[in-house]
Amino acid sequence: MNICIIGAGYVGLATGISFCIKGHRVEFYDSDRNKILILNDGRVPFYEKGMEEALQKCIKRGSAIFTDNLKKALKEAAVIFICVNAPTLPRGKTDLTSIKSLFSKLNKLIKRKVTIAIKTTINPDDYLEVKKLLKNENFHLAVNPEFLREGSALKDSLNPFRIVIGTYDESSKKDLENLYSNFDSPKIITDPLSAIMIKYASNSFLAVKISFINEIANLCDKIGANIDDVATGIGLDPRIGKDFLKAGIGFGGSCLPKDTRNLISFSKRAKANISIAEKVYEINDVQFLAAIDKLKEVLGNLKGKTIAVLGLAFKGGTDDLRDSVSLKIINYLKKHGVIVRAHDYMIYEKAGKLLKDVFISGDIYSVAEGCDALIIATDWQEYKRIDWAKIKNLTTGNLIIDGRNILNKKLLIKLGFIYSGIGRS
Ligand code: UDX
Repeated sequence: MNICIIGAGYVGLATGISFCIKGHRVEFYDSDRNKILILNDGRVPFYEKGMEEALQKCIKRGSAIFTDNLKKALKEAAVIFICVNAPTLPRGKTDLTSIKSLFSKLNKLIKRKVTIAIKTTINPDDYLEVKKLLKNENFHLAVNPEFLREGSALKDSLNPFRIVIGTYDESSKKDLENLYSNFDSPKIITDPLSAIMIKYASNSFLAVKISFINEIANLCDKIGANIDDVATGIGLDPRIGKDFLKAGIGFGGSCLPKDTRNLISFSKRAKANISIAEKVYEINDVQFLAAIDKLKEVLGNLKGKTIAVLGLAFKGGTDDLRDSVSLKIINYLKKHGVIVRAHDYMIYEKAGKLLKDVFISGDIYSVAEGCDALIIATDWQEYKRIDWAKIKNLTTGNLIIDGRNILNKKLLIKLGFIYSGIGRS
């Protein structure tokens, strides 16, 4: 099938490349000429495991084509996927500027029958607004949300837990069923608004799970219980499930915080009350203070102390800083007179431009030098394998706050560190 992906960002690329791998021909359109040049050159403008190799194979086979010419990109397409960025405005409405301008171009450029599938996450009321803009009766509209995780985006696009197709329209339903026929995943065919709700409710539910386990971990700290055993114990009940029960300093990223925020705001506009989402948002907003309180317990006043924040990305395996809890911690520490040093495996250069007055490096040993304490802020699995004895010799103090509960507590205590995880007392 001939597919056109509009918006060659994270979602667009993962989606499009997975269709190429499944045997389709995909034209990617993006208005950012520079991005198109990079992609045509076989490079991916962000880090995602396996994506660049897959992209190069698809280009070589001729199944992935990149262009900044929309007319050309649309020419052969039977299905068009809308994967453009739609940021949230201050009051929780979606910023529809790019979608609106895109839809007016589609109205002018396409005269034949085509399926248009919206992957971009937009609020239900925003969907009803943009739907009216597609004036051509040959357009067959559907909502087809994505659920991919950064760090495993390609794997998730090729083997999604489910494929959701939301449409009232037989023609787009048939096209999308056809397109996904060689994907071995359960398929849910529903109406567009229910498809949108599946997306928002899924991400918000994941956020509920994380905030729940974080509050349980905070309680474990107070009473002297161990969150690792508690999470294992409750996760073994299949009605609960073991995933998304990793306690820590809170969730970040481009989706969970935004989707929870948007669910709150459009539910208010719909005169409904999703108070659990509001609570989750409040809990997550302050969960990073669990790490700060632990620092204060041992160091007292933080002013003038030197603290290393290990990890800047919102989670390990990505180079994405969006809504990263690490940034919240760094800003808090700087505001309270702390000398901050920071490490990341991926985004030390990009972060260096953003965080003035912070020594940032990709070399963890130089970051640890002279520090009174270290905080693990990102769950980079590599932190488990570094030479902690060497770090001990480099630091001035001996305190480690493990904000992601990934380190071996016994080993670190044996090396002479004071170790404190979240709920691992
Ligand atoms: C998420 C959803 O998982 C995905 O389905 C959706 O389409 C996009 O948003 P992503 O943002 O890539 O994916 O990351 P995810 O793995 O969900 O983690 C989000 C945040 O939660 C990270 O900050 C992570 O560190 C945190 N997290 C996750 C926890 O604190 N504990 C957990 O148990 C799991």
